[in-house]
Amino acid sequence: MISIKSEYEINMMREASKILVETREALREIIKPGVSTELLNQRADEIIRNLGGNPSFKDYEGYPKSICASVNHVVIHGIPNKKTVLKEGDIISIDLGVTYKGYHADSAATFPVGNISKEKTQLLKVTEEALYKGIEKAIPGNRVSDISHAIESYIKPYGYGIVEAFTGHGIGRDLHEEPQVLNYGPPNQGPVLRPGMTICIEPMVNLGTKHVKVLSDGWTVVTEDRQPSAHAEHMILITEDGHEIMTTKKE
Ligand code: MF3
Ligand code: CO
Repeated sequence: MISIKSEYEINMMREASKILVETREALREIIKPGVSTELLNQRADEIIRNLGGNPSFKDYEGYPKSICASVNHVVIHGIPNKKTVLKEGDIISIDLGVTYKGYHADSAATFPVGNISKEKTQLLKVTEEALYKGIEKAIPGNRVSDISHAIESYIKPYGYGIVEAFTGHGIGRDLHEEPQVLNYGPPNQGPVLRPGMTICIEPMVNLGTKHVKVLSDGWTVVTEDRQPSAHAEHMILITEDGHEIMTTKKE
């Protein structure tokens, strides 16, 4: 069952999203060579709590930290630590989850550290553009895999590896709800999108192979060929006449 959110629930998710966006913008400012992922975690945890939220990922299925910080060949679920210090030319995906009055917001973005290669620049750009291609299809009457297909079709000409082992998802009271939102596949499959549904769309795109593995810490997902990977995610509300991107800055 895909839950349809009430106006109250949507408002709680909007509040969670505001906190998330503020946190993301603060982190964007401090991502620089010399900064550890541990420091980014500390700052994010502090900001989220100061704004009245809770970090959704902390203790989620045993996850030990408040954000995911995934550098270069780490695809997702990089665990912040003191030893991972950013250097010029790195890329870092920051995945943030915020809970407000029991409702979640979830969003990820990949940032450059100083100057990065042309290859990495294009990977970041295409990953974000693919997310927006998917978002365009997140409208009432479309089916879930219309999103999936749009993402895959956009990425394909670049020859990048689209990660299949992890997917987007519904969200609300739980961080992960139905439906699953794949980043590949044929169009016109799966549930029909209806107003009041809230979903996270999150392509994970690798410069090389699509294949990934999980390190022995049980969390860190890396590319099998250790080439770089990017991640972009927004939380979307399906509305009567289209959608609202909940996890972007509002005027
Ligand atoms: N943002 C991730 C997702 O969309 C969740 C991170 S997993 C956690 O699935 F354990 F760190 F919470
Ligand atoms: Co997510």
